[in-house]
Amino acid sequence: MTAAASPPRPPVRLGVLISGEGTNLQALIDAIARGDLAAEIRVVISNQAAAGGLARARHHGIDAQVIDHRGFPSRQDFDRALVAALNAHGVELVVCAGFMRLLSPVMVAAFRDRIMNIHPALCPAFPGVDAQQQAIDYGVRFSGCTVFFVTEGVDNGPVIVQAVVPVHQDDDAATLAARIHAEEHRIYPWAIALFQQGRLEIRGRRVHIRDFPAPAAIPALINPRSS
Ligand code: GAR
Repeated sequence: MTAAASPPRPPVRLGVLISGEGTNLQALIDAIARGDLAAEIRVVISNQAAAGGLARARHHGIDAQVIDHRGFPSRQDFDRALVAALNAHGVELVVCAGFMRLLSPVMVAAFRDRIMNIHPALCPAFPGVDAQQQAIDYGVRFSGCTVFFVTEGVDNGPVIVQAVVPVHQDDDAATLAARIHAEEHRIYPWAIALFQQGRLEIRGRRVHIRDFPAPAAIPALINPRSS
């Protein structure tokens, strides 16, 4: 006798935090439209009024807000405003997509194990800003991107998915960033889909993926074996 399939879970309610162009935000919007990701983007919040991602959100009828960090006396006060806005929209999972602000314990505690981030390097390599230039300067032959759960630290939370790209001899930061971006747009929707399906379990530093798919079903070159 085979076990009964569990009923599909409802779409996960997302709050997306951005500071810039929002191409990862666009990848999420597109994945939802294609039916690859059961999610609803309840709100997009930027700390930068000039962020291009705000227009992308509004174009798709998504509530897009600016909360300028410069209007707050401390990082914690800014995060309290973020938490209030995210809660007001019933957000279940916070998705940092090029959000260039460190989150304080206020945010991490309010959404413990429910904040994802993406970093354009193979964590723990090259944390912080200019990860692509750091990779070129170091001389690595491969770099990539990492989706991880945010903890109190810089780009060092439990890893969910990574994708690898080659670093070419004639790369500059822009050409490497473009190659990495293409993989980011594949793995971020997938990581969120795994969360929505209830398949991610954090065990200490490690994230266990339940019912790990066959390699052919994985949308990027990632660590290709399940346990
Ligand atoms: C992405 O490459 C993302 O990995 C990076 O910002 C870019 C945002 O692009 N994030 C970080 O560097 C965080 N440390 P986008 O605005 O086009 O999505």
